Amino acid sequence: MHDYDLLVVGSANADLVVGVDRRPGAGETVLGSDLAVHPGGKGANQAVAAGRLGARTALLARVGDDDHGRLLLDSQRAAGVDTVGVLVGGAPTGVALITVDPSGDNSIVVSPGANSRLTPSDVRDAGSLLAAARVVSLQLEIPLETVAEVVRTAEAGFGDRSGPRVVLNPSPPAPLPADVLAACDPLVVNEHEARYLLGDDPDGDATDPEAWAAALLARGPRSVVVTLGGAGALVADRDRTVRIPSLPVEAVDTTGAGDAFTGALAWRLGVGDDLETAVRYAVRVGAAAVTRAGAQVSFPTADEVAAL
Ligand code: RIB
Repeated sequence: MHDYDLLVVGSANADLVVGVDRRPGAGETVLGSDLAVHPGGKGANQAVAAGRLGARTALLARVGDDDHGRLLLDSQRAAGVDTVGVLVGGAPTGVALITVDPSGDNSIVVSPGANSRLTPSDVRDAGSLLAAARVVSLQLEIPLETVAEVVRTAEAGFGDRSGPRVVLNPSPPAPLPADVLAACDPLVVNEHEARYLLGDDPDGDATDPEAWAAALLARGPRSVVVTLGGAGALVADRDRTVRIPSLPVEAVDTTGAGDAFTGALAWRLGVGDDLETAVRYAVRVGAAAVTRAGAQVSFPTADEVAAL
């Protein structure tokens, strides 16, 4: 018996958000909207997305002993996420400086702060959380060696029990060790991340996501999901490749929509959906998330997803 459908291991940031008519160029100043401060961070976002949908979820993360850290803990608890694995102290809470333009697109600079102090040793200390989860979901706003420790622990299993299924969104993208890549089921990438991981592979220059997915699969992951923004997502494994369309919605702010997608996807895998079914659900969650401003504050409940 597992206590959690999903364990998220990753970052928690305070998002400092300003709306702008256009982004400044180098050396330029522009005026923006009033500042909004929202709970964010790719890991914390995934956990809140899943929790709000009804998942049994826990978060392993590190925040500072400060107001931003308390904002993030409050948001997790309000979504029903178990925060027993959220460590406090060591550095200020991570901060993301975000501009959102009139089309809803964002640009983000992250100061990792406490996220960069989440260590492999913290992962070893949280072995019981990993053992209690059906799926573990990861991103790359924490140290790569910490991500690798999670993956190796999950792959090794716990005595006669297998470890959690690994979902990884390599964002922001970085070179991945072969064993980390091979454990992903799925590797979840957007176009930018796919092209980065493919490097100088000629398929990285292809314009169709089917080619990226095939080239990425050849590098070892058990399955690949390519997110396509308003066009939905593509699912690929050794047997087949399927495009899943999204829903037509009016985008207000895309911040965190990819995290909502991945959190929902990982949760649905944790409750036993096959990958295609999980992605069909996740694209609806991602579509709902772009219709409201902010990251966690924009994520839908299960009833809101059903009503779409
Ligand atoms: O993916 C969106 C998230 O990226 C934001 O919430 C911000 O904190 C950055 O981590």
